[in-house]
Amino acid sequence: MPDKSTLEVCVTPGLLPLYPIDDKVVVVIDVLRATTTMCVALDQGADKVIPVDTIEECLSFTGKENYILAGERNGRKVEGFHFGNSPFEFMDGVVKGKTLVLTTTNGTRAIKMAEHSYQVVIGGFLNFTALTKWIVAEGRDTLLLCSGWRNKFNLEDTVFAGAIIHHIKEYFLVDSDSAFAAEKLYLNSRRNMLHFMKQSSHYRRLAHLGVVNDIKYCLRPDLTSIVPVLKNGALVIANSTKHPRN
Ligand code: MLT
Repeated sequence: MPDKSTLEVCVTPGLLPLYPIDDKVVVVIDVLRATTTMCVALDQGADKVIPVDTIEECLSFTGKENYILAGERNGRKVEGFHFGNSPFEFMDGVVKGKTLVLTTTNGTRAIKMAEHSYQVVIGGFLNFTALTKWIVAEGRDTLLLCSGWRNKFNLEDTVFAGAIIHHIKEYFLVDSDSAFAAEKLYLNSRRNMLHFMKQSSHYRRLAHLGVVNDIKYCLRPDLTSIVPVLKNGALVIANSTKHPRN
């Protein structure tokens, strides 16, 4: 019986240097809101999503045909961008056939930090089942990377990591305190996720900005079956999860 692959949790990008990832799948998690928004954009027909670290890099794409500049700092849309980072901004066909260049406070930074791994994949509650099936099918050592908030722990990403662990741990070797804690957080919150998330700092931050509907949307499970993967610096839909229409 071959040894099982490992499934681990890194609760903030600040701890990522402690985890060798060259041969690992890294699942980047930023459920409020970056990885949710990226999934929505691709599900809505965007050709690809290019995550960039800085506002300046994003602005360098200004004027390129079929390119949309988007993102936030401290949850607010950046001046000079077409859109912010609300998933609702990327619906109704506005991104179909376009390339989205996105920079956010934590999520895009986490993706860039993990890009030297074997494969970066992203998700949120909205593609939970497809994402967990993809991770199991890939069957490689896997690190769940929580984007956190400015290198600090946040509730929502670790709860989501715990949800993944709880649902697929039978297929992996799970043996770390961070994975144990993440799963317990999930089990303690799943009966009323919104109520639990109201205790998170990012809920308060986003509520102060008047985007509670974004939070409610970001917590809705299985709205899409696509799984975005990072290829040549851009997020695209993994072939095995493409819609027939794609
Ligand atoms: C992040 O990058 O931490 C979030 O996406 C910020 C936000 O709420 O847009």
